[in-house]
Amino acid sequence: MTPHIRAAEGDIAETVLMPGDPLRAKWAAETFLDGPELVNDVRGMLGFTGRWRGNRVTIHGSGMGMPSLSIYANELIATYGAKTLIRIGSCGAMQESVGIRDVIVAMTASSISTPSRGILREVNYAPCADWGLLRAAVAAAEGKGSAVHVGGIYSSDVFYDERPDLTEQMTRHGVLAVEMEAAELYTLAARHGCRALAVLTVSDHLLTHEALPPEDRQSSFGDMVEVALEAAFA
Ligand code: HPA
Repeated sequence: MTPHIRAAEGDIAETVLMPGDPLRAKWAAETFLDGPELVNDVRGMLGFTGRWRGNRVTIHGSGMGMPSLSIYANELIATYGAKTLIRIGSCGAMQESVGIRDVIVAMTASSISTPSRGILREVNYAPCADWGLLRAAVAAAEGKGSAVHVGGIYSSDVFYDERPDLTEQMTRHGVLAVEMEAAELYTLAARHGCRALAVLTVSDHLLTHEALPPEDRQSSFGDMVEVALEAAFA
């Protein structure tokens, strides 16, 4: 048990998929895993452990933003021995060449700040995905016929960003999309010798202002879960 996870040690698998939304964790576990069991519900943050093609997997919510993800990822790694952590979530596109529903596999994640800033201090650390996971996820997404983009993303501390100049600079520097968690996940994984990746679907577009219709969100999310599972066990 930890302050935020009531699971017994051994209840959490070495491979953990982390959607932001706890109800997405429930849906994904019930849809894709055999024998999913609820292992956490502290503060409504749901985690389930089951099997996918015989492999043990936990699907656990991260909450929104890096401070929330940091709490769960730290506890999953330090107390429960998680070794592979894959964020599955949505993002806002920052390039004209990226479309709604496209899949983004994040090679790096820029940020203004992360919870790890306190220990990295003056270092502009470059949070980076695990290469083996990244390669396997790209192959899995291409195998499904998804439009997949591989490159840098931006992990923001705000959803309601009042800095249009920042979006402009991100776009100018080739950043594919914005979300709110990956930079800290990659940094924590590196610090603890774990593998991490973020697989994202584009839910909205910052340049064209298009958005994924609510009825399409489930199927796009399902494709991402399968890509993450295939990458984890490739
Ligand atoms: N900003 C931050 N996070 C996001 C967005 C966004 O526009 N879309 C999906 N996640």
